[in-house]
Amino acid sequence: MNQLMLRRPRRNRKSPATRGHIRETRLSVENLVYPLFLIEGEKQKIEVPSMPDCYRWSTDMALGEIEDCLKLGIHSFILFPAIDEALKDKEATYGYEEGNRYCETIRTIKERFPEACVITDVAMDPYSSDGHDGYVEDGEILNDRTLPILAKMSVAQAQAGADILGPSDMMDGRVGYMRQALDKEGYTNVGIMSYTAKYASAFYGPFRDALDSAPKAGDKKTYQMDPANKLEALIEADLDVEEGADYIMVKPALPYLDVIHLLKENYSTPVAAYNVSGEYAMLKAACLNGWLEFEKVMPEMLLSIKRAGADVIITYFAKDFAQIQKIRP
Ligand code: PBG
Repeated sequence: MNQLMLRRPRRNRKSPATRGHIRETRLSVENLVYPLFLIEGEKQKIEVPSMPDCYRWSTDMALGEIEDCLKLGIHSFILFPAIDEALKDKEATYGYEEGNRYCETIRTIKERFPEACVITDVAMDPYSSDGHDGYVEDGEILNDRTLPILAKMSVAQAQAGADILGPSDMMDGRVGYMRQALDKEGYTNVGIMSYTAKYASAFYGPFRDALDSAPKAGDKKTYQMDPANKLEALIEADLDVEEGADYIMVKPALPYLDVIHLLKENYSTPVAAYNVSGEYAMLKAACLNGWLEFEKVMPEMLLSIKRAGADVIITYFAKDFAQIQKIRP
């Protein structure tokens, strides 16, 4: 006996066609940004121990990886340098030194693949002997002392041909400071993807292993946000938008989907989300153990970030997603 029911949501789920009609969120490779860890040398492709199947690349090898990605439809890359300890100092001088390896790599990539959208990292930590994102004096991270260093890094990266700069340091006022420095030098078309709500998260562990960039002393809690806070993300977003950010980012992604949603609802500036190294590591570990099915669970995870409100997703899974999508769109 059939029950009398006027509304049966299952009717719209009855076939692939009807499910296709009502699908609310679609994730495309166009939404994805692929991070690359860059190391010194030639012919180097070294796996990150805590990130199976994710590698550190020498510039020549990175070019091959970028070429593969472009063929798969991935056009955006975010680059992170691993810097030799001997080149690090308190001022992160190497970060803006003429012809440094990072800027040379940007230049090489843009010469070879002008269609690639190159996003950079603007922060002191890869170059700082203290391993912090700001200038350290007597154990304190000095905000305003850091800004000119970030500005110099920004101009050097823009000069090298970067399309979008990614300040990941969480110093106050840096977006406006960088914007002014870029405009003054004529780089009005270089964008800023600001790490707006970047949390003091334990999910960055594998990234710091990959780049050997962990703080030498203390933690990042005086500049990165408290994981307990959400309203504070609105303050950060207000400032970044006022100061000229072209994208506002939430990082990490999965444990902060509510924050992604909050920014999407409150701002017209595009929202980016960073699906960070620890999120990669936990999913990958479960899949390698046979506990989760990679080809299904990974796209579901990325879709959830898009559904929450991210326009752009930075993810170490970008290439895997593009490959899976090619076989089973
Ligand atoms: C540092 C930076 C970090 C990440 C990107 N830029 C780590 C940190 O703040 O210590 C983390 C990315 C990831 O975990 O995938 N400026």
